[in-house]
Amino acid sequence: MQKGKQIYEGKAKKVYQTDSADILIQEFKDDATAFDATKRGTIRGKGVINNTISKILFELLESKGIETHFIKQLDERQMLIKSVEIIPLEVTMRNIVAGGMSKLLGIDEGLVLKEPVLEYHYKNDALHDPLINEYHAKALGLATDEELDFIERRSFEINNILKAFFEHKNLILVDFKLEFGRHKGRVLLADEISPDTCRFWDKETREKLDKDRFRRDMGNVEEAYQEVLKRLTR
Ligand code: TMP
Repeated sequence: MQKGKQIYEGKAKKVYQTDSADILIQEFKDDATAFDATKRGTIRGKGVINNTISKILFELLESKGIETHFIKQLDERQMLIKSVEIIPLEVTMRNIVAGGMSKLLGIDEGLVLKEPVLEYHYKNDALHDPLINEYHAKALGLATDEELDFIERRSFEINNILKAFFEHKNLILVDFKLEFGRHKGRVLLADEISPDTCRFWDKETREKLDKDRFRRDMGNVEEAYQEVLKRLTR
C-alpha cells in the first residue's frame, strides 16, 4: 500500500491518502492539547502507545461484532483505516462522574452513576464542542434518526465490552469519547480509543492513568500511558 498525500492534520493525528480510494493511513503524533488547544505540549512516545492501544481495542471490538474503521497496524505510529465521512458528534459515555460532567452539574468526581450516561457533543472546537441532545443532532441534520439509534445502541454495547475488558486489567473505565463515520452506507466506529480519549483509574488506588495527568499538570504522563499499554499486553 503506497502512502500518498497528507489530507488532514488534527491535534493528535495526521491522515494520508493511499493508492486505494477508500483506504487511508492514520498516523499518531506525540502532540497533546487540552482545553480546545489553549494548552499544548508533547507526551514523548504517546503516538506509538496510542496506535497500539487503539489497535488492541479496535480488534477486541471487531471480535465482538462491532464494525470499526480499523484495517491493520502498519508500524509503530501508523494504522490502515477505511475512509469514513465523520459524523460531527463526539459521543461521550460515562460510568463515573468526572471532568465535564462534574463541572456541568457540580458533582464531585468519583460518583458511580446508577447507569451509564450517553452525551452528544457537537464537534466544533470554536464552540468548545457544546453539549447537545439528539433533537439538535436530527434537526440540524448532523445525523439521521436511524444513525442516532444505531450510534446509541453501539455506544452502550462498546461500553459494556470495554468496561469488562479493563476491569480484568485492573482499570476502571470512568468515561470515554467515541466518533463514528459513514462508509459505504454503514456506520463504523472511527477515530481512536486511547488514554487521550478515555479516563482510566487504577482499580485499587484510583490513580489517574490517562490524559488528565497532562490536563491537570500531575506529572508522570508518559509513565501512565505506558502503564495502560503494559496492562493491556500482559
Ligand atoms: P469531559 O469530561 O471533558 O467531557 O471528557 C469526557 C471523555 O471524553 C474523557 O474520557 C476524555 C474524552 N475527551 C476527548 O476525547 N476529547 C475531548 O476533546 C474532550 C473534552 C474529552
